[in-house]
Formats: sequence, C-alpha cells, structure tokens
Amino acid sequence: MFELKSFSPADKPAAYADLAGQLGALLHGERDWVANAANTAALLWHSLPDLNWAGFYRLVDGPLVLGPFQGKPACVRIRMGKGVCGTAAARRETVLVRDVQAFPGHIACDAASRSEIVVPLVKDGRLWGVLDLDSPTPGRFDAADQAGLEALAAVFLAATEL
Ligand code: SME
Repeated sequence: MFELKSFSPADKPAAYADLAGQLGALLHGERDWVANAANTAALLWHSLPDLNWAGFYRLVDGPLVLGPFQGKPACVRIRMGKGVCGTAAARRETVLVRDVQAFPGHIACDAASRSEIVVPLVKDGRLWGVLDLDSPTPGRFDAADQAGLEALAAVFLAATEL
C-alpha cells in the first residue's frame, strides 16, 4: 500500500524534492503510460493543496487529447497553440498563468479555475503531451511550483515507455 506524505508549502523546494522521491518509488518498475499517468495524477491531486484539476493531455494525431486526470470531467480535445495547454505544447515551455481570466484564449473546462500551470512533456526530442494543474485560487502557482513540477514531469518521463 502506498502511504501519502504531507506536502509542506512553507518549504516548496524541499516538499517537491520529497514528492519527486515518492513519485519515483510509485512508478518504479512500471513502464505503462496509462498506469503511470494515472498514478502521477492521483499523487499530485492528493499531495498538492488547493487544486481543482490535475492531469494529462497527450498528443494524438494533431490535437492534444484528454488523458488520465483527477478533478471534474474536462474538455477532451485541445488544438496545438490553443488555450494554456496548447500554448505550452506549441512553445515546448512551461506556461504559468497567475490569472486565467487575463490569459487570452484560456479554455475554461471548470468555471472554478483561477490559475493554471502547464508543463510540456518532451522525451527524446518528441513532444508527447502536457501535464496540467488548475487551482481555484488566483496566483496559486509560482516559480518554485514550476521548478518542482518540471522535476516531477522528468521523473514521469524517465519511468515511462512513451
Ligand atoms: N484550461 C486549459 C484547458 C484544460 S483544463 O484546464 C483541464 C487550457 O486553457 O488549455
């Protein structure tokens, strides 16, 4: 049985380092992308405070297509360059949005979302998809979250056959 540990926002770098260790242990020995994406979304959802969505979109024949996630049912297909997810995918850069209402083209899957961060998932030079987190709190994500989530994305990519 996997024991969840508490995440201390008072020291985000240490908390994310701990979470990266937990994720590595959780994914150890498993290469299947559905299993690993599902467990990654569940770990993030139950560990990180103040989220209303956490999950994956995967590049499938052009658009990003909804993958394993936690939260309310979401938009299924997002075109490259559209919304926060499609922007992060097209740029291959993390997009951190402190106020989604001020982001032109933001796609509102859940009206409660106020801030968002999307990390592109690139393995061996190929864009596989994105990791997307939403929060009901404006400004919920900062540079420490970005660094921590990029490290978690790297753990997912290293563990998984894509
Ligand atoms: N807000 C995202 C859409 C996906 S949901 O947040 C789950 C976007 O603008 O791309």
